[in-house]
Amino acid sequence: MIGTGYVGLVTGACFADLGNSVVCVDKNDEKIAMLNNGEVPIFEPGLEEIVKKNSLSGRLKFSSNISASIKKSDFIFICVGTPSSKNKRSANLKYVFQVSKDISRNINKFKIIVTKSTVPVTTGDKIEKIISKRKSKKYFEVISNPEFLREGEAIRDFRFPDRIVIGSNNNKITRRMRNLYEPLIKKGAHFFSTNRRGAEVIKYASNAFLATKISYINEIANLCEKIDVNVEDVSLGIGLDQRIGSRFLRAGPAYGGSCFPKDTKALTVTGDLFKSNLSIIKSVIKSNEKRRKLLTLRVQKILSNKIKNKKIAFLGVTFKPNTDDMRQSSSLSMIPFLAKKGAKINYYDPTGQKKEFEKFKSVTFFNDVYKACKGNDLVIIHTEWEEFKALDFKKLSKRKKIKIFDMRNLYSEKSMKKSGFEYYSIGR
Ligand code: NAD
Ligand code: UGA
Repeated sequence: MIGTGYVGLVTGACFADLGNSVVCVDKNDEKIAMLNNGEVPIFEPGLEEIVKKNSLSGRLKFSSNISASIKKSDFIFICVGTPSSKNKRSANLKYVFQVSKDISRNINKFKIIVTKSTVPVTTGDKIEKIISKRKSKKYFEVISNPEFLREGEAIRDFRFPDRIVIGSNNNKITRRMRNLYEPLIKKGAHFFSTNRRGAEVIKYASNAFLATKISYINEIANLCEKIDVNVEDVSLGIGLDQRIGSRFLRAGPAYGGSCFPKDTKALTVTGDLFKSNLSIIKSVIKSNEKRRKLLTLRVQKILSNKIKNKKIAFLGVTFKPNTDDMRQSSSLSMIPFLAKKGAKINYYDPTGQKKEFEKFKSVTFFNDVYKACKGNDLVIIHTEWEEFKALDFKKLSKRKKIKIFDMRNLYSEKSMKKSGFEYYSIGR
């Protein structure tokens, strides 16, 4: 596994758990040192146990030596990041191409090179071209095996995936990939193969579709707020139609994370490049950007546009629960905006203090929910961690009447209002 981040580490540990010999490589020496020391650098439920167990058995190793690791391996998974580039739209492929060059220098026997990173269509062709500059095509095959795991659910998603997609132009290699995944296929995972470009498109089209579903329900939620309808009833009512499906219809803050925002943008760039206007995805991106502003405006409105010196508590700042990942979390725009307007922000997150807020003097981390909320004017439930689902609101507002903005609809509007709280939520 080249790249030991959320994808490389989870996939490497889980493949080792299936009995394979795996080496996870990273150019970040600190990460590798931590892992060799038994520490897992990311928060992902269940990962630490699997890493420990397989490190002890000797099946899972960590290394900074990319050359030696490539030489020893039959399968090489490229799992490095593909963030948005400086122009903020297209995927930056410099890490993928760097790894491709490293691979080309170290091919000593036949290698199956698997792109697991999310890459725009035709990247596989480019990787193949880079490697062919040094090595004859008979020594390697480049295939696509996009990853669909979700942070916070990554172990379960590896073990019980809805589908395994292999994009290869070579049937023999597709069969070898199928063998590698056989233990999961036996447990019910669908195996789907197509050509390399097809698999590259499937990954982006999946993420963009899911992002569309979320933006769609978020816009319906805006309408519901104006007409006294509960968006959750609408989600349930439409989701029961199996053609629509009930998942990914939870209205909330703008979608975030390390993938939906960057992948939707990168897909529109690909569309433009091939003169195919992906207008639906373009409007999803716009809608999501608008949503970031809309919810911040809503916070201002709840506080009657008087932000200065108001005490606001944020519960959860990551983009979703069960992860420590802050990438593209809506808290990253909301908290600085409110802090600059003079609000005093306390925040609590189960994964600890965040370096992103260190430079703001009026933003303080607390390691306890109740301490973070003490004496606040407004409490914002930003991330739907389990531990926020049964808060003792009486304890929260002992001394002062607080307003609550539940951005994840964790509580019933009726019972919150009955208890006398000034309670706001989404789409109801
Ligand atoms: P990440 O940033 O957590 O990890 C990437 C790792 O690659 C880093 O540790 C970095 O040091 C390492 N790296 C970069 N260049 C390297 C090089 N030349 N040699 C060795 N190591 C190098 O990224 P991630 O979240 O794991 O995502 C990786 C890819 O998988 C991206 O393309 C992403 O879109 C895709 N993906 C991510 C998820 C997810 O949930 N995070 C899910 C599916 C797909
Ligand atoms: C997402 C996809 O779900 C994975 O299949 C994919 O592999 C991954 O991106 C990727 O390519 O990296 P992830 O970003 O971990 O996974 O998280 P999601 O659970 O999809 O949530 C993304 C965002 O959408 C979060 O901000 C979340 O709060 C939001 N969301 C999700 C909603 O607002 N409503 C929903 O109903 C679902």
